[in-house]
Amino acid sequence: MSNDVFGKKRPGDGNALKSDKLLVTHVFGGTMSHRSIIEPFRIKSVEPIRMTTRPERRRFLADAGYNPFLLRAEDVLIDLLTDSGTGAMSAEQWAAIMRGDESYAGAKSYYRFAAAVESIFGFRYVLPTHQGRAAERILFSTTCKPGDVVPNNTHFDTTRANIEYVGARAVDLPIAEGREPATIHPFKGNMDVEALEALIAEVGRERIPLVMLTITNNSGGGQPVSMANVKAVRAVCDRFALPLYIDACRFAENAWFIREREAGYAQTSPREIARELFSYADGCTMSAKKDGLVNIGGFLATNDEALSRQESRLLILTEGFPTYGGLAGRDLDAMAVGLNEALDEDYLRYRIASTAYLGRHLTDIGIPIVQPPGGHAVYIDAAALLPHVPPRAYPGQALLAEMYLEGGIRAVEIGTVMFGSTDPDSGEERTAPMELVRLAIPRRVYTQSHIDYVCEVMADVFAARERIGGLTMVWQAPPLRHFTARFEPL
Ligand code: F0G
Repeated sequence: MSNDVFGKKRPGDGNALKSDKLLVTHVFGGTMSHRSIIEPFRIKSVEPIRMTTRPERRRFLADAGYNPFLLRAEDVLIDLLTDSGTGAMSAEQWAAIMRGDESYAGAKSYYRFAAAVESIFGFRYVLPTHQGRAAERILFSTTCKPGDVVPNNTHFDTTRANIEYVGARAVDLPIAEGREPATIHPFKGNMDVEALEALIAEVGRERIPLVMLTITNNSGGGQPVSMANVKAVRAVCDRFALPLYIDACRFAENAWFIREREAGYAQTSPREIARELFSYADGCTMSAKKDGLVNIGGFLATNDEALSRQESRLLILTEGFPTYGGLAGRDLDAMAVGLNEALDEDYLRYRIASTAYLGRHLTDIGIPIVQPPGGHAVYIDAAALLPHVPPRAYPGQALLAEMYLEGGIRAVEIGTVMFGSTDPDSGEERTAPMELVRLAIPRRVYTQSHIDYVCEVMADVFAARERIGGLTMVWQAPPLRHFTARFEPL
C-alpha cells in the first residue's frame, strides 16, 4: 500500500510523479511505514471561517482592484497569502506570553530570548526587531553604501528593496536549475558559486559588503540550500574576506530538507544541522513570523561586537531599546519557545509532508508547479498554466483572481507584479524571470480537509483555464508595488 503523506487517499494517487514518490520515501526517512503522517497536535481553540457567495466575491474582488492584498480577511475562506505571522501558537507559547517581563530595559524575557537564539544559531550578539525587514534595514543601512553590490541566491522582495533603498544593487545568483520550474533538483535553492566568483571579479571585492544566502529560497520556490553549498559559498567568502549572512526565515524547514536529502545527515537532528549551518555564517537576519512560530518578531544577529553596537544605535532610533527592539517582553518569550518548537522532528515531518501533499495533488490535476514542492509553499507556474496570457497581462495575478472567485482562496503572485518595474527610459515594463503563484501554508492552522478543498477548487480552476483572461495595472506605488497595485480585467 502506498502512503499518502497526509493519510487520506485521493483519486489519482496512483499517478504520482516519480519525484513525488521519492519525496514520500524521504518523508518517511527511507523506511516506508504503513501509517499516515498526521497533524502532531490537537485543537484547543478555534476560529470560525465563513463561506461567501460567488456574486459577493465578484464584488469584493472588484472593490479590491483585483489585488488579494486589498481584500478583507473575513471575506477569504482559505488564506494562503502567506506563511508569515499566520501560524498558530502552542499552549506553551501562550503560557510563555503570561510570563513576559515588560520591563523597559533588561527584562527577563530578553535574556530567555537571547539564550534561545544563541543555543540554536550560535551568534553572541542578538538584536530583537519587530520583524525581518527591520533587521534587514538596520543591517544594510549599517554595512552598505551607494554603488555596493549584495549577492544572494535570491533576494526576497523586502531584502531587495532595503538594499536598493540605500543605493546598493541586489544581485540574484541561483543555480540554473533554480530558474527552471519543471526541473527536479534536491537543492534548487543553492547559489551558483561560479557566478558568485565571477561577480566578485567583475565588481571588485571592495564593493561587496557581504554575501547572503536565503534559506529556504522563498522567491525561488521555497527551495532548500544544501550544507555543501553553504560551505562552498563560505570558502569563496574566506578567499575574499567577505562576511556571509543567512536570511534565516525558514531555517528549520531547510534543516529538515538537509536531513532528508543530503548524504551524511540522515541521523543528525534538525537542531544540530541548524547549528552547523550557522557556524559557517557571520550573522543572520530573521523573520520569526516564519520558523519562529510567532505572529510578530524577528532579530539581527552577529558575532561582531563592534558591528552589533553600531547596529544597536539605529535600533534605538527606530525600533526601541536593544533588549526589546520594538516588541513586547511577551513577544520575546513566545519567540524563545517557538524557535525551539520549529525544530521538533514530528512537527517538521508533518510540515514538509503537508506541503508535499498539496504539491502532489495539484500535479495530479495537471497544474504545473515548481518541482519539487518547497517547504512552506507550493508555487504554480502561471506562465505555463495560462500560456495565452502574456507576462505584461500578469498571468499570476489573473490566476489569483480566478482562485478567489471560484472558492474564496487567497494566494500571492510572485512574478511581474512583484518583481517587474517600469523602465524609466523606455517606459516599457520589465518582466520577471518567472510568473509564479504561491500557495503558502500557514503553520499548524489548516487541516487536511481544508487542503483537500483547495485541491477541489484548483481542479475547477484548471478546467476553466482557457477562459481566464489577463489584467491591466491601473495604479501602482513602487517600491513593493504589489501590496497596493490595482488592476482591471483586460
Ligand atoms: N526574507 C524572506 C526570505 C522572507 O520570506 C521575508 C518575508 C522576509 C525576509 C521579511 O520578513 O515580513 O518579517 O519583514 N516574507 C513574507 C512572505 C512576507 O510572505 O513570504 P518580514
